[in-house]
Amino acid sequence: MIKIMKVPDYETMSLAAARIIAAQVRIKPDSVLGLATGSTQIGLYNELIRLHQEEDLDFSQVTTINLDEYCGLPSDHPGCYRYFMDTQLFNHINIDPKSVFVPDGNAEDIDAHCRTYDDIINFYGGTDIQVLGVGENGHIAFNEPNNNYFIAGTHEAKLTEDTIKVNSRFFDDPDETPRSAITMGMAGIMSAKTVIMLASGIKKTEAVYGMVRGEVTPMCPASILQLHPRVILIADTEACSCFD
Ligand code: GLP
Repeated sequence: MIKIMKVPDYETMSLAAARIIAAQVRIKPDSVLGLATGSTQIGLYNELIRLHQEEDLDFSQVTTINLDEYCGLPSDHPGCYRYFMDTQLFNHINIDPKSVFVPDGNAEDIDAHCRTYDDIINFYGGTDIQVLGVGENGHIAFNEPNNNYFIAGTHEAKLTEDTIKVNSRFFDDPDETPRSAITMGMAGIMSAKTVIMLASGIKKTEAVYGMVRGEVTPMCPASILQLHPRVILIADTEACSCFD
């Protein structure tokens, strides 16, 4: 079930999400947080850093499990998701590096690595909160639209041409944009006790509509969230304009 929290703008969306996560971590200091990358999450991570630095929000017992990582980029490449997470969040809070999980896009045996990643998710009994963003084409993590099925496990996903185009904005040379990624599958995402989906801006309107009101179909991967018992969609006026 998707509850919609409509907020005026990006800033309010970010603060609202941070408040929920901060409450989760204060109530359960050893929480397991599923984290996402993307411009949507930057405001949320900035606020979590502020809460840590100014209001003693303590991440020392928290575990984080990230959704996805590009294949084939060096781990210090500014386009890779590990680099994004380190610079946007992990380097600024007191999380134990041993409790941080991000898929390794350079793993020698990708299939074995994916199975291990699912074992980690299962070991923790799923995440307490999964933070999500949505792609313009309705993807979540890198579960891309397809005609036939949702993929349950962590897997290597071939990125669609439109995702490659949208994500090329993060690369100096657009041709450098990776063509595949390791992504948590739907079982990992749906194992979260609570999902917080963030959406901001007019470019997300169509995806938000498909996620909330559309048919549950792998053509719009985010629509699977309709089957989850507890999803909070925090979306700004523009992303919600499909409901006006
Ligand atoms: C990427 C990520 C997704 C993210 C999406 C939206 O493709 N794999 O997890 O939700 O982009 O990104 P943004 O927040 O930059 O719009």
